[in-house]
Amino acid sequence: MTNVAKSIGGKQILCNINLEIFPGEFFCIAGPSGSGKTSLLRLLNGLESFDIGDIYYKGQSIQNSDIQKLREEVGMVFQNPAIFAETVKENLIIRKQWDKLFFVDENDLFEILEMVELPQHLLALDARSLSGGEKQRLALARTLLNKPSVLLLDEPTANLDPRLGDQILNTINQLRHQMNVTIIMVSHHIHQASKYATKAAFLIEGTITETGPISILTNPVTEAANLFLKEED
Ligand SMILES: Nc1ncnc2c1ncn2[C@@H]1O[C@H](COP(=O)(O)OP(=O)(O)OP(=O)(O)O)[C@@H](O)[C@H]1O
Ligand SMILES: [Mg+2]
Repeated sequence: MTNVAKSIGGKQILCNINLEIFPGEFFCIAGPSGSGKTSLLRLLNGLESFDIGDIYYKGQSIQNSDIQKLREEVGMVFQNPAIFAETVKENLIIRKQWDKLFFVDENDLFEILEMVELPQHLLALDARSLSGGEKQRLALARTLLNKPSVLLLDEPTANLDPRLGDQILNTINQLRHQMNVTIIMVSHHIHQASKYATKAAFLIEGTITETGPISILTNPVTEAANLFLKEED
């Protein structure tokens, strides 16, 4: 993305964002609450528009692409995934129903459940009875059913204890290899993220202050990022 900026109601939320993310990377965007992380992810799959600049996917501006197709290829798992008062199975296929694609291949379903390590017997349960970690896995599985090329993850470990968070990130990292999917993750769990990510950037007050190898997550150059890490400790 080049020189992307966005304001809402006269307030600048993202300014002059330049990021280049390559296929197969596990890219972590870190930054304080309110710095624009979720807003940035929502731009990447066309959920929200931007004011200036441009975002390219496979060399093409997303403003000229089929938005429905973009959202399937660039899947997003939300910060607080919606879990419906239905069975786990219905929660998994509901997206397909909205998309008017009523057919879900059962083999695909079982394969994806296995990938995210959700046992098949959970399919018949009320999804609201799942644990926090299981709900995260359900949301991940639901997005994976579209076989995305890019996975946008908004704080996938925010509501989980460190052990479960680690497990989820480990699963995601394995998916990156198995499904050849590029991961773009927003997180403020710096130490956890730095175990799995391959590249990182800091987003502070709507600006990318620094981008580079994962070593910057624990050892940033800029003062703003150092200040943020200090506050996190
Ligand atoms: N629809 C909106 N209307 C008005 N302000 C908004 C809207 N969406 C986001 N904002 C503002 O934009 C800023 C960035 O929000 P965003 O949700 O992207 O932050 P974040 O980095 O994801 O924070 P957190 O870590 O708490 O999730 C915040 O100040 C927020 O209040
Ligand atoms: Mg957010």
